[in-house]
Amino acid sequence: MTEDDGNDKKMEGSNSKKLKLVTFTGAAGLLGLAVSYAIFAFKSHKEKSKKKGLPGCDTVCVNLSAREILELADEIISKSTRVHENVALVPLNKLSYENVVLPLAELEARQLSLIQCCVFPKMLSPQDSVRKASAEAEQKIDAHVLACRKREDVYRVIKIYAAKGESISPEAKCYLQCLVRDFEHNGLNLTATKREEVERLRNEIDELSLRYVQNLNEDSSCLFFTEHELAGLPLEFLQSLDKTQNKEYKLTLESSHVAAILELCKIAKTRKTVAMAYGKRCGDSNIPVLQKLVQSRHRLARLLGYAHFGDYALDHRMSKTSTRVIRFLEDISSSLTDLAIREFSILKDLKRKEEGELPFGVEDLLYYIKRVEELQFDLDFGDIRQYFPVSLVLSGIFKICQDLFGIKIEEVSEIDVWYYDVRAFAVFDSGSGKLLGYFYLDMFTREGKFSHSCVVGLQNNALFSNGACQIPVALLITQFSKDGGGEAVPLGFSEVVNLFHEFGHVVQHICNRASFARFSGLRFDPDFREIPSQLLENWCYDSFTLKLISGYRQDITKPLVDEVCKTLKRWRYSFSALKSLQEILYCLFDQKIYSDDDVDFHQLIRSLHPKGYQWWKEQTLPHVSHVL
Ligand SMILES: *[C@@H]1O[C@H](CO)[C@@H](O)[C@H](O)[C@H]1NC(C)=O
Ligand SMILES: *[C@@H]1O[C@H](CO)[C@@H](O)[C@H](O)[C@H]1NC(C)=O
Ligand SMILES: [Zn+2]
Repeated sequence: MTEDDGNDKKMEGSNSKKLKLVTFTGAAGLLGLAVSYAIFAFKSHKEKSKKKGLPGCDTVCVNLSAREILELADEIISKSTRVHENVALVPLNKLSYENVVLPLAELEARQLSLIQCCVFPKMLSPQDSVRKASAEAEQKIDAHVLACRKREDVYRVIKIYAAKGESISPEAKCYLQCLVRDFEHNGLNLTATKREEVERLRNEIDELSLRYVQNLNEDSSCLFFTEHELAGLPLEFLQSLDKTQNKEYKLTLESSHVAAILELCKIAKTRKTVAMAYGKRCGDSNIPVLQKLVQSRHRLARLLGYAHFGDYALDHRMSKTSTRVIRFLEDISSSLTDLAIREFSILKDLKRKEEGELPFGVEDLLYYIKRVEELQFDLDFGDIRQYFPVSLVLSGIFKICQDLFGIKIEEVSEIDVWYYDVRAFAVFDSGSGKLLGYFYLDMFTREGKFSHSCVVGLQNNALFSNGACQIPVALLITQFSKDGGGEAVPLGFSEVVNLFHEFGHVVQHICNRASFARFSGLRFDPDFREIPSQLLENWCYDSFTLKLISGYRQDITKPLVDEVCKTLKRWRYSFSALKSLQEILYCLFDQKIYSDDDVDFHQLIRSLHPKGYQWWKEQTLPHVSHVL
């Protein structure tokens, strides 16, 4: 997932690689928005339309009509305005935890799910009108939340209460600090002139980020190749390409096209042309945008009291300072260098055998990794897919998670959903039988559906001062396919790994027992967020668990054989130093441009160039900046 400038995102558990270019601007920061509110405002809706929600959880309504969404958004805003007004009006000599912090915390806890009910249909509703209303509601709520975070009267009350230093629970204290920080990040403790500058810079940053992504999205550059120049690519790939009158194939710079060429094309010159074009994609327009963006972010960070943007962005992450992150990255990168050089020499040897003494270029990396892997591992991923029918994988993952985390998962039927094949499950504590939470599962691709895998928190765990508690509800979105007959297509191995990963976010969302919605679910430090899921991916490479989640399509009593399980495990680590180093260099580039003034991008790339990496050239620069 791309890291934004500090706001949490609605789609917290997203697969990092796929989302690199997706930015969530504006209202998308919803889960992070410090608004909130109450159930009662919403009851009227439920009575009118006889919705069937999750048992014991009437705050989550997942199939609202366009009109209901817009009405709910208005109710959310008016309730939130009232609560903020009340806090602002507390006399300064009567400030207490109960009349300052609690109302805001409970508003946030209660409104989070209502906001999500307005906003998530934008991604998933099959009806155009609902998606449109949802987007409109999101915009309105966003603007409201921002306005709340700029309220001087509320800020003053909170700041004065905080200064009293009352003894409150550690979690409450942390919440209070977050409240103060939300205001101060909008410049609320600065002079009027500086605050205006903060606002101007924030707008400028939004515009520049948007322009950067738009430039990439609108890029229509393409390249033309003859059939001979595309030797090595599978027939169905060629058939999917447009053809010109003189029989040349038209290739775009979309990642699916580029990846196919870089991995499969036997003609080095073609790979080079494509790698260079991809590396330079939008470079002329986007490098100046990036330069300006970095400067504006530094300026904003300094106004807010940080040394540079790096420290500002890390302030609410576990790693805290840029120095620490850079040291960490440099340490791993130096411990990987020897292995990377060994891996690299394997690639160079194969190239020498196949093409003679030619320099190894950036265009050769993926191609030769793929070639070496084909020689070293006897893996037929098409055949492996036959062992992963969706329902079997799903029940296997449930089984593993039930044992591992002491939970019990049961399907809930006859409740409202937004599309007929969406399913819902209840999660219980297997010891006490207590209901812990729910999750929805929207697995299959369809027209108009959001096109990435991710987990959305629909409601967060929270404890209220009257003793009531609110249970977490998660939504897991995946992109599996059905065949022409409506049958689920078995999962490719990477889809299995991805499902495990995303399911880790679901478990995390449901088992996080923090009592403030601000810290429960997936709303903890963003640099910790991926860890439980990444940990869970390990189960996909273990023979015992792989057998639990696999079974041959025609006879599901036959799981993957030992040998394949073991080969998958070896394959996982192939060229891991080279693959990791590339990611690490991107991270270092990112950290360095945001932790120093006026970094010369080209110079920086040259200095990051590790020993033995002749192919790591300056031309990879725009390539790098694409992933920021
Ligand atoms: C505003 O608050 C931040 C964080 O607490 C602090 O670093 C900064 O010095 C404050 N600025 C002013 C003008 O008080
Ligand atoms: C969702 O609600 C609409 C009415 O707004 C209804 O037509 C549709 O059938 C419902 N969807 C499902 C899957 O129940
Ligand atoms: Zn993730």
